[in-house]
Amino acid sequence: MAALKRTKIVQLLSAEEIGNLVKVKGWVRTKRENKNVAFIALNDGSVIHNLQIVADPTEIEEEVLKKITTGACIGVVGKVVASQGKGQKVELAAEKIEVIGTANPEEYPLQPKKHSLEFLREIAHLRPRTNTFGAVFRIRHAMIFAVHSFFNDKGFFNVHTPIITGSDAEGAGEMFRVTTLDPLNPPLNEDGNINYKEDFFGKETNLTVSGQLEGELAALALSEIYTFGPTFRAENSNTTRHLAEFWMIEPEMAFYDLDDSMDLGEEFLKYLTQYALDNCADDLAFLEKRLLEEEKGKPQKERSEMTLTERLRFIVENDFVRLTYTEAIDILKNSKPNKKKKFQFLIEGWGADLQSEHERYLVEKHFKKPVILTNYPATIKAFYMRLNDDNKTVRAMDILFPGIGEIIGGSQREERYDVLKQKIEAMDIPAKDVWWYMDTRRFGSAPHSGFGLGFERMMQFITGLNNIRDVIPFPRFPGSADF
Ligand code: 4AD
Ligand code: MG
Repeated sequence: MAALKRTKIVQLLSAEEIGNLVKVKGWVRTKRENKNVAFIALNDGSVIHNLQIVADPTEIEEEVLKKITTGACIGVVGKVVASQGKGQKVELAAEKIEVIGTANPEEYPLQPKKHSLEFLREIAHLRPRTNTFGAVFRIRHAMIFAVHSFFNDKGFFNVHTPIITGSDAEGAGEMFRVTTLDPLNPPLNEDGNINYKEDFFGKETNLTVSGQLEGELAALALSEIYTFGPTFRAENSNTTRHLAEFWMIEPEMAFYDLDDSMDLGEEFLKYLTQYALDNCADDLAFLEKRLLEEEKGKPQKERSEMTLTERLRFIVENDFVRLTYTEAIDILKNSKPNKKKKFQFLIEGWGADLQSEHERYLVEKHFKKPVILTNYPATIKAFYMRLNDDNKTVRAMDILFPGIGEIIGGSQREERYDVLKQKIEAMDIPAKDVWWYMDTRRFGSAPHSGFGLGFERMMQFITGLNNIRDVIPFPRFPGSADF
C-alpha cells in the first residue's frame, strides 16, 4: 500500500466517510484518559474544530501515551467512525500514534483554559495555537483574498508601490528612517550635519506612510488600480486603534469624482463584510460566543446591543449616512456630551479636527449607522485634496464605523497644476520631492479620486476584537517589536 497521505482536519470533518482509513497531524489541545479509553482533542489549524481521537490505552506504548500532552505535535492513523459523544459527528479511532514534537507540560505556557488577550500578546509566537487567534488569522486570510477578488472582478490592477521612500510629501505621520550609516560615526557635512549623500541611496530615506502618491501615477495610466501593502507610522500613539506597522488598501481611480469614490468605498466595505459572513461562519460563530461571554462581565449599559453577526449584517443591509463636515460640526456642537463637557476635546466651532470620540458619537449615538463625512476644512487635510469653490474646504471623505471611528480616509485629488503648485508652496513642500507627482498634472492630467482602508481596523470590525494588536500576527507599537 502506498504511504498514507495526510488529511487536513477541515477535510476530514466535511468530506471523509465513515470507515475510511486516514492519517492526521496536529497539536494536542487536551487529553483525557482512564484505563479503558483515551480521548485526545487534536487541532491542525485548518478549521476551528478539534478532531476527537479515541484510543485504546492498552494498544499504545506507555512511552508514547505519556508524551501526548497539551501542545505536543502528533500524527495519528486511524479509522473515521461515527461519534458516540456529543459535539461532533465523527471521530477518529486511532490505530497508530506517533509523537512528532513533545511539549513539556511543566513549561508549555498555553493551558487548556481561557487566557487573557494581554497574556497571549506576550506569547505572540504561540498564540496562533489558540482558538481565538486561529479564528482571527483564518479570517484575516479570507479578508485578504476578498480584497483582491473585489478589485479583480472590477478590472482594477494591483500595483506594488515602494516601501522605502525618498519623500515625506504625504505628511500623514512621523516616519521611520531607513539608513545604513553608522550611528556612532556618521559622515558629516562641513556644517556638522549628517551627510546623507553618503548614505545607501545618496539621500535621506524612510519607510512609507502610504502608497497613494505612487498609486496616483499608476491610475493616471491604467485608470483603476489598487495597492495593498505595509505602511509605517512612527507616531507615539498607544491606542487600541493604532499600529506602527499596518496594512493599507488604497484604490485610486481616474475619472472618479468624490461621489463615485464614496460609492466604491461603501460597496467595498459591504462586500468584505458579506464575504466574511459567507465564508467564515465557523470562526465568526466562535468569536461571537467569545464576545458574548466577555460582555457578560460588563455593566448592562456598556454591553453592545447587537451580537457580532448582527453588527456585520447591519453594515451590509443599511445605507451609510452621508453628510458634510459643516453639518457634523453643528450636530456635535449641540450634542449632549459637548454641552455637558463630556468630550475630552470640546467642539468650539468650525475648523476643529475631529477626534475619535466625536466620530464615534456621530456613528454610535446620533445616527446609529456608518457615516461618510465630506468636505473638511482644507487646513486640517493633506495638500493633494481637491479645493472646493468656497476656497475653504476640500473634497475629502472619511468613512466612520461603529466601535472603530475612522476606517477609511480618502479624497478627490487636486488635478489642476496651478492650484496644486500654490498649495505645495504654501505648505513648504520642497519641489524637488514632488516634481514627479507634479508632472502628472502637467502631462495629461485628469480628475481622479481614491481612498485608503486600514486593513487592521477592518479586521477589528469583522472579528469584534477591541484591540488592534490582536488582529495582526506580530503587532508593532511603541516600545514593542518582539517576535
Ligand atoms: O487617513 P489616512 O492617513 O489616509 C491616507 O494615508 C491616504 N493616503 C489614503 C488615500 O487616500 N489613499 O489612512 C487611511 C486609513 C485610516 O482611515 C485608518 O483606517 C488607517 O488607514 N490607519 C491606521 N491603521 C492602523 N494604525 C495606524 N497608525 C493607522 N493610521 C491610519
Ligand atoms: Mg485619515
